[in-house]
Amino acid sequence: MGPHVSQPSVLFVCLGNICRSPLAEAALRVEAVAAGLAVTIDSAGTGGWHAGEPPDPRAIAEAARHGIDISGYRARQVRSQDFQRFGHIYALDQQNLRDLKRIEPKGLLGRSTARISLLMDIVPGREGTAVVDPYGGNAEDFAQTWEDVREAARHIVVRLGG
Ligand code: 4NP
Repeated sequence: MGPHVSQPSVLFVCLGNICRSPLAEAALRVEAVAAGLAVTIDSAGTGGWHAGEPPDPRAIAEAARHGIDISGYRARQVRSQDFQRFGHIYALDQQNLRDLKRIEPKGLLGRSTARISLLMDIVPGREGTAVVDPYGGNAEDFAQTWEDVREAARHIVVRLGG
């Protein structure tokens, strides 16, 4: 068995895949590298309106403040294979979680094997809370998004053994 076989894999899902989930992907990349943890990381949106687009310029700017360039990320919609490809799927808010559970493949063929949960449930004291959508907000809202997803990412790294 090669190391890739058991490498953990994490998918972050928000609505548009241009604000919150790209920042969550970036935060986990930063924390995983810091911990020396090998993990497959991706992000997607429940909606496909922004598919193919780079992250929101405000998200790119916020990530850059923390030393990571996400301008090369491209938005995509979540697809049925994701539920078998990823061991963990984290929803950024409750609506994203409901949408994921609704589209999760349930038939015998291609049945979902991913553990699906609300991202902030992994942070003690923040269970049941959303990473608030900063899309209609300002730079401060994007900074708050970063704080939330970075805290969650630290707990994910601990849970994955990093
Ligand atoms: P995200 O933010 O789900 O964090 O990427 C949004 C991006 C786009 C839209 C909504 C939220 N939109 O309606 O286009």
